[in-house]
Amino acid sequence: MSSGEKYTHGHHESVLRSHTWRTAENSAAYLLPHLAPDMTLLDVGAGPGTITVDFARILSAGRVVGIDSSAQIVAAATELASAQELANAVFQTADLYSLPFPDDTFDVVHAHQVLQHVADPVAALVEMRRVAKPGGLIAVRDVDYRGTIWAPENPGLDHWMTVYQLVHRGNGGEPDAGRHLKGWALEAGLTDFESSASIWCYSSDAERTWWGESWAARALESAFYADAIEKGAATDLELRAISDAWLAWRDALDGFFAMPHGELLARA
Ligand SMILES: C[S@@+](CC[C@H](N)C(=O)[O-])C[C@H]1O[C@@H](n2cnc3c(N)ncnc32)[C@H](O)[C@@H]1O
Repeated sequence: MSSGEKYTHGHHESVLRSHTWRTAENSAAYLLPHLAPDMTLLDVGAGPGTITVDFARILSAGRVVGIDSSAQIVAAATELASAQELANAVFQTADLYSLPFPDDTFDVVHAHQVLQHVADPVAALVEMRRVAKPGGLIAVRDVDYRGTIWAPENPGLDHWMTVYQLVHRGNGGEPDAGRHLKGWALEAGLTDFESSASIWCYSSDAERTWWGESWAARALESAFYADAIEKGAATDLELRAISDAWLAWRDALDGFFAMPHGELLARA
């Protein structure tokens, strides 16, 4: 890891409640048409591995490797692949700035919601390109927090956004990464790429319960709480008000939340 860089969310249960919802379909649709069963794929910053195991199912005659800097989450992802009897998916602990693979190894190198958390996303892209085969794909998707919209109006959620931006930036990351992917690709020397965007939207009663309660807990129990206090971004009282605001959003019948994401599909 780069100095001063810290993964903002951590791996608390309240965070994983949100991250384990992710599938290849809802998080990597832009990449799916380009996959073939015999390909090899590296998933960088694979986290709990729910997207990675979907890739393993699609690349049924190929091989999928997930890496993450957290040994704890690598163990959880390994367990998930084993429970789903996916012998072509393996996970290992590694740092994305120095991937433990030779040049030109993988057909696809993928990272979902990862570049936003690293201090040097351009170096990360250069390293991802190094391990991609010539002509292989580099696929990246990141949220753009500043582009998020919601209803109803809620000063507590406005404050959540302010505190979130301070904490994420304070950890060396870029919360509005989605809009920067194209610029980072150019800086990394990538020339053959497409940019696109897609949106996660939470609105139904079930979605509001899941997302609202996840953030109500994250505000008080995850690494976000400790970081917000330590960085002076919010007091305990303010974080309690933010948590309550998420519960109010959950209960609002007109509650709506949409998060835009930038996507990058590059040829190595
Ligand atoms: C937001 S999670 C995304 C997990 C997964 N890709 C997904 O979308 O569900 C970001 C992951 O990147 C990992 N990470 C952060 N910095 C890293 C680094 N320098 N090297 C490897 N993994 C890193 C974190 O441990 C975390 O699991």
